[in-house]
Amino acid sequence: MATADRKDDHIRINLEEDVGFQELTTGLERYRFVHQALPEVDLGEIDTQVVLFGKKLAAPILVSSMTGGTDQAGILNRRLAEAVEARGLAMGVGSQRAALEDSGAVSSFSVRAYAPSALLFANLGAVQLNYGYTVDQCRRAVDMLEADALILHLNALQEALQPEGDTRWRGLLSRIGEVCASVGVPVIVKEVGWGISKQVALRLIQAGVSAIDVAGAGGTSWSEVEKHRATSERQRRLAAAFREWGIPTATSLAYVRAAREDAGRPELPIFASGGVRSGQDIAKSVALGADLVGLASPFLRRAKESTESVIEEFDLVSAELRTAMFASACRDIGSLRQPGVLLQAGEAAVGRWALPPGNPTQVQYDGQAGQRQVSRPIGVNVGNRRVPGTARNGEPEEGLLEKFASEWLPLVEEEMQQVLAARHPALAEHYGMMQYHMGWADDMLRPAAIPAGKQIRPLLCLLACDAVGGNPAGAVPAAAAVEILHNFSLVHDDIEDGDETRRHRPTLWAIWGVPQAINAGDGMFALAYTALLRAWGRFGTDDQSPSLGGNGLALETLERFTETCVGLTEGQHLDLSYEKREVVTVAEYLRMIEGKTAALIAGSVTLGALFGGADSETAQCLHRFGHNIGLAFQIQDDILGIWGDPTATGKAVGNDILRRKKSLPILYGLGNGAVGEQMRSLWRDRPSEETLPEALRLLDSIDARGWSEEQVRTHHDKGMQALNETLGERTASSLLSRLSNRLLQRQR
Ligand code: IPE
Ligand code: IPE
Ligand code: MG
Ligand code: MG
Repeated sequence: MATADRKDDHIRINLEEDVGFQELTTGLERYRFVHQALPEVDLGEIDTQVVLFGKKLAAPILVSSMTGGTDQAGILNRRLAEAVEARGLAMGVGSQRAALEDSGAVSSFSVRAYAPSALLFANLGAVQLNYGYTVDQCRRAVDMLEADALILHLNALQEALQPEGDTRWRGLLSRIGEVCASVGVPVIVKEVGWGISKQVALRLIQAGVSAIDVAGAGGTSWSEVEKHRATSERQRRLAAAFREWGIPTATSLAYVRAAREDAGRPELPIFASGGVRSGQDIAKSVALGADLVGLASPFLRRAKESTESVIEEFDLVSAELRTAMFASACRDIGSLRQPGVLLQAGEAAVGRWALPPGNPTQVQYDGQAGQRQVSRPIGVNVGNRRVPGTARNGEPEEGLLEKFASEWLPLVEEEMQQVLAARHPALAEHYGMMQYHMGWADDMLRPAAIPAGKQIRPLLCLLACDAVGGNPAGAVPAAAAVEILHNFSLVHDDIEDGDETRRHRPTLWAIWGVPQAINAGDGMFALAYTALLRAWGRFGTDDQSPSLGGNGLALETLERFTETCVGLTEGQHLDLSYEKREVVTVAEYLRMIEGKTAALIAGSVTLGALFGGADSETAQCLHRFGHNIGLAFQIQDDILGIWGDPTATGKAVGNDILRRKKSLPILYGLGNGAVGEQMRSLWRDRPSEETLPEALRLLDSIDARGWSEEQVRTHHDKGMQALNETLGERTASSLLSRLSNRLLQRQR
């Protein structure tokens, strides 16, 4: 059959027959935008413009390659081109092979005359390079429409289903590479509706393509089109067998994005097409990483009518895109890609997980807005010292703590990122889960900068190092180790406590399931030791300082760190076992929080002191300081767990009551003469969402909160006494004391 006849067949079948997938979908329907009731932007300000291959487009919309080669196709192309020119969009033509074989068909592709300024793409089947085509034919195709770039399409499956198909595909990649090197315009490689895998994307990027169009599955099933063209029963059945074949568009987008990262080419443009039907689909594709989004069938139908009809469709689709951006508070195309704009459908149903879009580098530190993305401290090297811990007049200067934190914590973050980086692409998901928990990746494991923890443990570690006269640079790896250890404990704690929300986001197990979350936590536990090893690597292990009782620094810090881990699991054991007990004494409670929380806070301070060069006695004293403020910290956490504002804490409140945790305010109520009996009976029946208000009322009637706050202050004061033993008159002006005071007022 002549190429031209085949083209008319394709148009007819596409317009008249049901050639969609029956079960397989694009995957775009799995995503939902988080509606923003208060967009803080005018609809008129929404900017959908993008720049691609040096040309400005009014919106990232491409009229996907469809047709050409016949008179009828020529008319359609002309209308599409006129509409594209009128609205400042982009357009690709159908395969130009027909025109290279028959000069009579050239005019049907020559759309430049109708779209003098538009971004236009020439198009050839890549496999023709295996059938005698060279870069010359590619150039002729480009020249035919003075195209800005050349699309080479990959349609192996389609060829296999055609009786006349070109099925010699061996060695094609290197020929594509040759075209990329010498055709003189950017080369885009696209599928035709079955998607591009990660492996293929990687090979194409290495071969030198300038962009990839995923052309994924979920829209038109070309096997179904071929089925309608089949002339024999055998061919019909073969085609029918592939109706549901292919990589869904959304999945292929993720593959190509991952390949682009792995190849170190994060800026390489990705086009999304394949079943994209609406402005919201376009917005979702962009949010999932596409730079240009191709639609075919909605425009083909309009082109059968008139240029105006195509323009009408463009305006409709653009208005829908613009409205979706407005209602999700995305001022421009770049904002659509921010974490939290798009959620998987399952999560959208539980909207409390949604993060408002915002500047991803803006983070909260201890209740104060601040930028974590700051320049490196000058004082990383010894001798080129950092910000001193106190001001000359003995009082800590306003903002000194923030300054210290903003100068040093980014280094800890960098250190942690190195430790938790994927060790092999095949394990990207394993490490991705850890990165998700740390706030460096979103739930689709795309890079993100989501405000995560308060990082008080690394800060205490660095401040302790500073307080004993050391250079905090030496304590950065230890600070990373304690923060990784802390985060490991949270991953497991959320499984143990059945908590689905932490730091305003779904917990790791809530997304990836308990088995993977346990394993990711285990990984972080082991990697915390890796982080500590890096400290010795930098510091040396041969310090046999007598001040450390004959132990080298390595052994001493290893022992402290290990003891911390042991204490932490002991505390967690007690915490869980107390859920089943009716009565727990305050002493038992203190034993429990000493393990689950204070051990690590004390450990952080002690390690910092040791890496700062402290002797055993000083380290011990600071350990006591850490221990006591750790107790205060946990009691405060108990208070926030009942009376805190979940929009500040990022965790669900009331869970301690529902799970019968023996947090301090609860324990106080259970043992109280006035309400104890009522509380115990409520607890025996297990508190529920319905009885929660009653439980709260009882706690409030005895001012359990006020009493607990007093306990916080008591332990805080003990901590300050221990600090005083180490720092003497420098205590009041020290940043350690400033941080401890700050923690008393924390709301999260
Ligand atoms: C939470 O610790 C667990 C406790 C020991 C109370 P944080 O409140 O320090 O948690 P993040 O790291 O800031 O989220
Ligand atoms: C967390 O204790 C302690 C550890 C993770 C070791 P909680 O269970 O009381 O803390 P949250 O409230 O979940 O953060
Ligand atoms: Mg918990
Ligand atoms: Mg717990």
